[in-house]
Amino acid sequence: MTNKIHKSSDSHGPKVLRLLLRQSSRKLTGKLRKALPRSIFQMEVVNTGDELAERMDGDTVDVILLDVSAPTMENKKSFDAVRSLSIPPPVLVYGDNASFDTMISFIKHGAHGMFSVDDAPDIIINAVRRAARNHHLVKENVHLKESIVSKRKTIGILERFGEAMSTVFDVRKIMDLTLRVARRALDCEVCRLFLVDNDTGELVDSKDLEYDEGHPQLELWIAGGKDRGRLLKGAAELTIENGQALYLNSAEDIIALEGDIELPPEEGGLYNLLTAPLLVKGRALGVIVVANRLGCPDFIGDDDEVLMSIARQTAFALAGIRSLEGEESFQEQLGEQVQTTTAKLKERNLFLQKRLEEKADANTKIKAMAEEIREKNHSLKDMIEQFKVIHEISQVIGSELENETLIKKIISETASLLRAETVSIMLKDTEGSLTIRHAVGLSAEVIKNTRVKPGEGISGWVAEEGKPILVRDVKSIRKDLPDITRYHSDSLLCVPLKIKGRVSGILNVTNRIGGGSFDEKDLFLLTILGSHAATAIENAKLYGTIRDNYFNTIKALVNAVEAKDSWTKDHSENVTNYSLKIADFLGLSDEQKDIIRYAGVLHDIGKIVISSTITDKPDSLTNDEWEVIREHPLIGQRILDPIDFLEPVKICIQTHHERCDGSGYPFGLKAHEIPLETRILSVADAYDAMVHSRPYREALTINEAVTELKRSSGAQFDPAVVNGLVRIIEAEGLLTAPEQ
Ligand SMILES: [Fe+2]
Repeated sequence: MTNKIHKSSDSHGPKVLRLLLRQSSRKLTGKLRKALPRSIFQMEVVNTGDELAERMDGDTVDVILLDVSAPTMENKKSFDAVRSLSIPPPVLVYGDNASFDTMISFIKHGAHGMFSVDDAPDIIINAVRRAARNHHLVKENVHLKESIVSKRKTIGILERFGEAMSTVFDVRKIMDLTLRVARRALDCEVCRLFLVDNDTGELVDSKDLEYDEGHPQLELWIAGGKDRGRLLKGAAELTIENGQALYLNSAEDIIALEGDIELPPEEGGLYNLLTAPLLVKGRALGVIVVANRLGCPDFIGDDDEVLMSIARQTAFALAGIRSLEGEESFQEQLGEQVQTTTAKLKERNLFLQKRLEEKADANTKIKAMAEEIREKNHSLKDMIEQFKVIHEISQVIGSELENETLIKKIISETASLLRAETVSIMLKDTEGSLTIRHAVGLSAEVIKNTRVKPGEGISGWVAEEGKPILVRDVKSIRKDLPDITRYHSDSLLCVPLKIKGRVSGILNVTNRIGGGSFDEKDLFLLTILGSHAATAIENAKLYGTIRDNYFNTIKALVNAVEAKDSWTKDHSENVTNYSLKIADFLGLSDEQKDIIRYAGVLHDIGKIVISSTITDKPDSLTNDEWEVIREHPLIGQRILDPIDFLEPVKICIQTHHERCDGSGYPFGLKAHEIPLETRILSVADAYDAMVHSRPYREALTINEAVTELKRSSGAQFDPAVVNGLVRIIEAEGLLTAPEQ
């Protein structure tokens, strides 16, 4: 067994030349046998041209020797037989020396050379050898030419095979192409491919692969059945095992692959075999096996290299497929990885999205909270501002002791605070019914005629329950409520005015300026304000009571004083009345008139300490007595000193004898240094004194008194005040004689 095709060569040792001799003369044949040694020349002798044709099998005859003495026909037949061969062997004609001319004529008809049997043996041997050598050269030349053609053909086949392989990416097609090309290039009976199973490492006959019909296993005939397959696979396994091509050139060697097989070539066995591994980077992907070279007993020449070339290209093509498959696998893995990564990214994205949504939600909540806080801050700020306002209002109303003024202030401040068009205070009368004490936004008629019994309507309910109420939708309240018709607003506020748990009245607020409803915050503010208002009203009421008590007490004292002095009886009352008339004429305020009211009554209270001997003295008073009299304004002030609420009144009492020209007492004040109330009081005081008798003089008539007043106007008296009194007297039609 060998694994290499033997390359035949003539250069290795002497070769016996096969000579085919067609004799005509045994004598001449004998001479040639003597001249040509048997060790060199194998001479076969035939007698006819036909025999010659029969013995020329293939190209194994090296030289043909023709006896020129033979009949012409025989010679012609012989030449024809020689020419019928693809590579005709050289023909040497021979004869004796007498046949020289005949031989030359044969040369003309195609003989390669001639010799005479009578020539020296060396000459004969050389002639034969030369002819044989020439023939051999011709044959070699022909074989070379054939080989070149064959190689060109093989190269062409391999080139086309290579080109085809580069465009085929299907294992079945690659194998099909491989086998067909191998079959064509190597001209063999059997071609078969085995592939290495990647998983098991076992060789798999491509015939057994799951191919459809027309599988590429090429066998020109199948006579060996299963055993032939075993032999081929055995050769393929040995190729894999050795890692190199295998060449088996005998049936025995091939059968020896599988010990239990006896399959001679004539029974479908294999008589030669060539393999080539499909190698890629030293790794065998499979084996291609060819066997039974057609037309030759052995694989020849470059068959092994051709098969190796085919195997290489097939291996590369298969490796490309596997690489592609690997790439596809990689692509699949990459795809899976990408899918996994994508899934993770999606999951991550979802997570981030969720986080973003949570953050957005949190931001929204924070925003809402911030907005809420801002609104609360704003509300708180508003509340603080409103509390400040309420505090200021409380200060204002708390300092107001005059009930009417207080109530008006409460109304106006409430309207301002709550931006309300209509505000009213209802107080309980002696029967417990509510009447409107003061209001803004209501007609005088409503104010005058409204009277609500306890429990009646919203106001009556609040007064009875003592609870504040916010009505957002007034129209939703029962229609039988009497108050309802007065509310043209959608909402109202009503709070009780409570002192020590007792409701003394209510504070009503309706009609938001600019529209809109009141709310709980407004109700809260109004409740606080109502509480302050109730306290203030109660305080004012108490203060008024105390003040009235004081005043009545002092007035009683004044009356007692005046009662003991018949001259000045009713003087204080008269002065008060005149003064109030003048105040009205001059448009003084209620507060100013209150001062005048008190001062008119009390202005001469200081005289209580002056002896009647002075006050009733009919004669002129002495200086000392005048000094005593001049003290009565200050004495009056001191008498009233403990009474705080009479502070402005005390000033009037102090200054009621001051004169506009500064000639009065006790301070000598001038004009506007003297309070207006005092200037009014002094005119009324003088007038009443003038029109009444005194111990020291008679009474003046009204006309005289008016004249006197006018005379002193601008000096002792304020001209405007004098003018006022004169107008009043004129209006009253009193400019007649004064009463006595
Ligand atoms: Fe007086």
